Amino acid sequence: MSHQPLKDLATLVSLAKRRGFVFQSSEIYGGLNSCWDYGPLGAQFKLNLKLSWWREMTRRQDIVGLDASILMHPTVWKASGHVDGFSDPLVDCKSCKNRFREDHAVKKEGKTQCPRCGGVDTTEARDFNLMFKTHMGPVAEAGNEVFLRPETAQGIFVNFENVASSMRKKIPFGIAQIGKSFRNEITPGNFIFRTREFEQMEMQFFVKPGTDEEWFNTWKEIRTNYYKKIGLNPEKLRFHEHVGSELAHYAKAAFDVEYEFPFGWSELEGIHNRSDFDLSQHQKFSGKKLEYFDEASKEKFLPYVIETAVGCDRLALALLCDAYREEGEDKDKRVVLGLKPALAPIKVAFLPLSKKDELQSLSKKVYDDFALDMDVDYDESGSIGKRYRRQDEVGTPLCVTIDFDTLEDQKVTVRHRDQMTQDRVSLDQLRTYIDNKLREF
Ligand code: GAP
Repeated sequence: MSHQPLKDLATLVSLAKRRGFVFQSSEIYGGLNSCWDYGPLGAQFKLNLKLSWWREMTRRQDIVGLDASILMHPTVWKASGHVDGFSDPLVDCKSCKNRFREDHAVKKEGKTQCPRCGGVDTTEARDFNLMFKTHMGPVAEAGNEVFLRPETAQGIFVNFENVASSMRKKIPFGIAQIGKSFRNEITPGNFIFRTREFEQMEMQFFVKPGTDEEWFNTWKEIRTNYYKKIGLNPEKLRFHEHVGSELAHYAKAAFDVEYEFPFGWSELEGIHNRSDFDLSQHQKFSGKKLEYFDEASKEKFLPYVIETAVGCDRLALALLCDAYREEGEDKDKRVVLGLKPALAPIKVAFLPLSKKDELQSLSKKVYDDFALDMDVDYDESGSIGKRYRRQDEVGTPLCVTIDFDTLEDQKVTVRHRDQMTQDRVSLDQLRTYIDNKLREF
């Protein structure tokens, strides 16, 4: 049977809206540029994704979690280098008034070319700071300005000492965090790929200087394995090493994990060796000692940090693009989201063959049992074929059909999303059967 992968982003955007994954924010008011809302299935999918990352990190003995606030002391951003250095080169096109990033544009005869109209009558690039500013308290005045965090990482650095002492953590150890970040991007776009409000999943791993390069390589490997485990096609993953001016102000070394999106290879995750840059800056600006005392060697030092940083929304997009496929032709065509069960918003759908009372009551009873501890769906409208298609399109791995024979033999039909095979399973074996099948995907 023919298998077509996703051909363009528009197809996914349309499915996402139609099936309750992602809607444009404030749509009834015409939308707000680059802002998106996760619908019922999208919210559950994103939650599953965060949980998978969180468990992967915090179930290790050497990593603990954190949930720091979005608003932080303004000096944090002085110390981190974001006030002075977190900017993109902004260029205006004098012909069509387009605004764009100089580093995203091409040069024509030595001049910056506008990506929209192709003209070269453009302004000199000027640095545009990407942090959103607001005011704390009722009056907007100088002195009470605060920033919406542009990365979650700084909440981890300023809590290094709190976490290490409260959790009695010895180096090497890491702190993991998931949370919203905000960047006033000049050119957001490509659906949920680059937005101005987004969620990050970041982990800072504190190590002894001198062991940083080894840990950097270890984390590159761990993260690649994670992506394979959650189902991303390894052929669509590659590393890109940052060199020269590509390196962020804090980085000693950096690799991007890139994914081949429908619009080309683009960054999914950054893996950075941040050296002791952040801790030494916070030590300097706060006046508080952040050195670590190593009992074994009786040495005091500022730990180096290996960071893994991925955008949750960006990873959600990669997973949806990767999972999408079309099978068959014309009226036999079906769209499938081949998500791993752990990420699928619905694990099992219960489908009574008819709306007759006796089938309904039995189906609801079975559904209720599963709904106690599993994300399940109940659907009784439309033909059974249509209902299977609806579940395929949102990635539901298994469907359970309850029919009139069930009333006699206490058996149901379990249908597999990918193979479309069907097994007859007795109700008292159903839970074990489903748990085993979900593990096999
Ligand atoms: N603490 C390091 C840091 O923030 P980054 O490479 O700037 O590093 C890490 O960001 C990840 O956050 C990126 O690889 C990307 O997945 C995600 N990200 C960054 N900016 C984003 C945006 N505007 N929209 C969506 N995701 C973004």
